Amino acid sequence: MKKMLFINGEWIEAKKTTALLAPYSGEEMAQVASADENEVELALEAADRAKLSMAKMPSHKRATILEKVARLLEERSGEAARIIATESAKPITIAMGEVERTIQTYKFAAEEAKRIHGETLPLDAAPGGEGRVAYMVHEPIGVIGAITPFNFPMNLVAHKVGPALAAGNTVVLKPAEQTPLSALFIAELFQEAGLPAGALNVVTGKGSLIGEKIVADERVSKISFTGSPAVGIGIRSKAGLKRVTLELGSNAAVIIDNDVKLDHIIDRCVVGAFSNQGQVCISLQRVYVLEELYDEFASKFTKATSQLTVGDPLDPKTDISALISAKDVERALTWIREAEQQGAQVAIGGRADGSVLLPTVLLDVDPSQKVSCQEVFAPIVVINKVKTVEEAIEMVNESKYGLQAGIYTDNIHTALDAVEHLHVGGVLINDIPTFRVDHMPYGGVKESGIGREGVKYAIEEMTEKKLVVFNRNR
Ligand code: SIN
Repeated sequence: MKKMLFINGEWIEAKKTTALLAPYSGEEMAQVASADENEVELALEAADRAKLSMAKMPSHKRATILEKVARLLEERSGEAARIIATESAKPITIAMGEVERTIQTYKFAAEEAKRIHGETLPLDAAPGGEGRVAYMVHEPIGVIGAITPFNFPMNLVAHKVGPALAAGNTVVLKPAEQTPLSALFIAELFQEAGLPAGALNVVTGKGSLIGEKIVADERVSKISFTGSPAVGIGIRSKAGLKRVTLELGSNAAVIIDNDVKLDHIIDRCVVGAFSNQGQVCISLQRVYVLEELYDEFASKFTKATSQLTVGDPLDPKTDISALISAKDVERALTWIREAEQQGAQVAIGGRADGSVLLPTVLLDVDPSQKVSCQEVFAPIVVINKVKTVEEAIEMVNESKYGLQAGIYTDNIHTALDAVEHLHVGGVLINDIPTFRVDHMPYGGVKESGIGREGVKYAIEEMTEKKLVVFNRNR
């Protein structure tokens, strides 16, 4: 199967293609277009040409196109989930969940398209402003460069394309090299839904070549990127005056207070740590348990982990499948070995079975170890003992990241203290950090990024506020 570029509403054969291999089976899924500079240029030209007509399109029409994409995706949801599961090794039941969330994201985008409005300001609050009133209109900013990761290949595309089109912008999308098929599938749906030529362009291929050209191009007004901090920081430094939203990584944590009934939360914590093989920016990587409950938590968590089923992502019984690449398996194993050399204990896992890193629970880990202080992006969780919630909060904050954190407690004062002191983009009370629904604001502090996604919040960052002042003193 040959996969082409989607440029200016047409499928274009690229001069070069690359074999796309499924991470679990190693089988070739497709020969995927690998765009060169000229092909990226065609996409940028098309997006730039289409921007005026998209900006003029009435919002009810933009909403109708987005609703239609949601409907078409509902009709083809099984096929969509199989694409995600095969190209990313996401277990099929979780892939189905991603498809359902993608439908939601496009539905939210359709709704938000119809309520993009500004505020009215009486200007007489300032001396000299008498007799004047102002209002603001939110205009599309033009061409959005969207660069998306492999871990949610359909829904994180939706989080950029949905708000961008809802606001009347155009898009040049560069999906992750490992997972182009989900993005191309969505482009097909937009074509069927009647999106004008050039409003969405999908260029697949080498990240550095395509990404750098999009980031440097003057016709692009904003870059929306989800991926690693290293790449995000590079984008920020090269983007000049472009707006930039960066959703980067984290080593997310949860705190377990000593009044918590563990049997109610163990399964949820296991889901947070191992869902999608831990390849989620808000995956539960660090657990801080008050010392009274530490032994019980560690043993119940380890037992629940031992019951996970490892295997083929297309098998509905599978909980854990392959990591995205062999290189990532190697990296994760090296980090585990390094932690062991510094005294960590492997309670379960700690080894690979082919392309699958077995779900791994580590105890007695020094906080300086990579499995604790870096983002592991693998099924590895570190369980730590603490004396107080204050100590736990300090440990959670002792991180270069700050995306989301959770705390389980029955004490409202403890919960409110955690809200006040945790330095993160989102605090989850009585839940793991691995929670997201698609209309909530989502983003981090420190090296976890800048800006917020969640459809309404992404639209705010994809529109320009234009001020209009009426003077009745003339
Ligand atoms: C991410 O990994 O950043 C996205 C998490 C999610 O959408 O659930």
